[in-house]
Amino acid sequence: MAREEIHASSGRPTGESLTSNPPTERRNSFLWGTATSSHQIEGGNDKNDWWAWELEGNIEGGARSGQATDHWNRFREDIRLAHELGLNSYRFSLEWSRVEPQEGQWDSAAFEWYEELLNECEKYSLTPMLTLHHFTSPKWFADAGGFTWPGSARRFAEYTKKVAQRLGSRVPLWCTFNEPMVMITGGYLGKFMPPAKFWPEGASLACRNILKSHVRAYEILKQEIQRPVEVGIAHNLLDFMPDRYWHPMELVITQVLHRFYNRSWLDAVTGRKQNFGVPGLVPKPRPVMDALKRKTVDFIGVNYYTKAYVKWRSRDAAEGVSSDFPIGLAFSRRHEAVSDVGWAVHPQGLKKILKFVSGYGLPIYITENGIADRSDSLRKEYLSSHLAATAEAIQEGMDIRGYYYWSLMDNFEWVKGFGPRFGLYSVDYDTFDRQLRDSGTYLSKLIQAHKEGDVWKSPRPDLL
Ligand code: FCB
Repeated sequence: MAREEIHASSGRPTGESLTSNPPTERRNSFLWGTATSSHQIEGGNDKNDWWAWELEGNIEGGARSGQATDHWNRFREDIRLAHELGLNSYRFSLEWSRVEPQEGQWDSAAFEWYEELLNECEKYSLTPMLTLHHFTSPKWFADAGGFTWPGSARRFAEYTKKVAQRLGSRVPLWCTFNEPMVMITGGYLGKFMPPAKFWPEGASLACRNILKSHVRAYEILKQEIQRPVEVGIAHNLLDFMPDRYWHPMELVITQVLHRFYNRSWLDAVTGRKQNFGVPGLVPKPRPVMDALKRKTVDFIGVNYYTKAYVKWRSRDAAEGVSSDFPIGLAFSRRHEAVSDVGWAVHPQGLKKILKFVSGYGLPIYITENGIADRSDSLRKEYLSSHLAATAEAIQEGMDIRGYYYWSLMDNFEWVKGFGPRFGLYSVDYDTFDRQLRDSGTYLSKLIQAHKEGDVWKSPRPDLL
């Protein structure tokens, strides 16, 4: 697909392909963005399954998303702030429960708000990347069984069609789902997301129905939108490693987790085998025939944050993993540099993951990468080391077309509430004031340097 056409709406010069183009064109077409999601920033999202789960007291400290960052009222300011960083793209998600609050009832005013948001993106030449589903589902859909419901793919297809008809012509880049594996492990194995059950059969059903929904959404977006669009998924990948290199069980489980968590979705959306099962844990679902032997993505979105040490029968409290089975994950070890949520700063993992993903032969966008760092003491180093890893990957010929930092501003970090601060802008939750952090200035300088010269040769802060 021609890159000119994809980015035509933003009026910026683009090249045919990032790998084959001369450096200047490649630089100009590289997308620099931030990523956000509806429920984490908009505020007032009280018609989805997350809100219901918040009301049950499941969020740390009893927090509720409530007004979140008040983005619903401040979106003009926020898009301007994104522009002031020098970005040329913006990834956001559409809140399904706003546009279809009851099954089959569409809220035109909600669509108008998203149209306004797209107007702002156009005003500032930010190429939009729209995610159709970022963790939240309408309450009516969740009550019917969410993605374990046999009717789920049909309902998701109807939603996609409406969105394509209303907004399609304005959006060149699409993610159908954000992190299906996080939803599945969080919802049906690890209990850190609604419906928070330990239900391996549910995990299996959800894998199948989300894949089915994705395939139908891919087809609908291609059919309904009268302009070239790129469609992918934003996939969370972890650099799994055994906690003890000599431990045979940990070595085996590391392989199994890599296959289940990192690989199975990428295999499935590129038409390979659908390996969604885990022997002895998650039953293998029936294959989705429409996804076999054909690609249903144009790009792969990589959401990368950290590593995961795999522990067998560990007595340590392992974050995010159910006590119902004897496997633990730790996202850092003592003495490692860690974020405020305990995730190790591990840029080598990004390089490994990019190498692994580029094996699928598709363009890559880094759709999320970021750090919770309230004091802003690690974020510059995090940015520079992860961009250095990206630079190496690009120099080695990997087709990486964009980098989206998570996140534009602090926001509602799911089960952890408002504690973790991922933003380039801080948010004061009393006044909703946004303040640029030093690391935000740093990233904008880096983007500027990228426009003027080949920053990929020297993305380190000391060289700026
Ligand atoms: C990712 C999610 C995103 C955000 C970051 C920190 O897994 O996609 O919504 O919560 O983690």
